[in-house]
Amino acid sequence: MIRQCQPQDINRIYFISNEAAKAYDGTIPADCYHQPYMPLDELEQEMKRMTFFGWEINGELVGVMGFEPVKDVILIRHAYVLPEWQRQGIGSKLLNHLKGLVTTSRLLVGTWADARWAIEFYERRGFSLLPDKDELLKTYWDIPQRQVETSVVLGMEVGIDS
Ligand SMILES: CC(C)(COP(=O)(O)OP(=O)(O)OC[C@H]1O[C@@H](n2cnc3c(N)ncnc32)[C@H](O)[C@@H]1OP(=O)(O)O)[C@@H](O)C(=O)NCCC(=O)NCCS
Repeated sequence: MIRQCQPQDINRIYFISNEAAKAYDGTIPADCYHQPYMPLDELEQEMKRMTFFGWEINGELVGVMGFEPVKDVILIRHAYVLPEWQRQGIGSKLLNHLKGLVTTSRLLVGTWADARWAIEFYERRGFSLLPDKDELLKTYWDIPQRQVETSVVLGMEVGIDS
């Protein structure tokens, strides 16, 4: 089941993020990958900026996704499912839940250009790669220039016909 994460979930979110992020090792540029991929103090700051939702199995979180309203858009941030639980629909359920909470006309997600599986995950769920990604990353994200260069942005228009 899906539930909103709380500050006391931080250690579990830290574990899930860093286990799932091992998928980036050897895939994204080497200077962009480090362990822990998401340091605890950085996660603490991120949890203040956004709301995390998690998928729980037997009372334990196994996947998380962040929902961050910024200006006139919503960003999907930090989507991570534990490796042993991947490709079983958990990421899709979290994404659908977040889509249902969107109050803006645009939902955006950024990921590494080399993370083909993540791009495919979003493309198969209604997102398209956006050509103005550098502009978008600078407007809506607060990330280093190197990450801007090595990332892509996918977007989805929501609630257009409602
Ligand atoms: C991306 C991620 C959050 C998706 O969660 P999930 O629970 O695996 O997603 P679902 O089971 O709902 O959907 C799986 C789909 O995602 C894509 N996908 C996920 N992992 C994949 C992999 N290792 N190889 C290829 N495709 C993959 C495929 O399109 C797959 O569809 P398929 O199983 O029909 O081929 C999860 O795989 C993950 O944590 N990956 C590592 C970290 C990451 O890339 N995060 C994204 C940051 S934006």
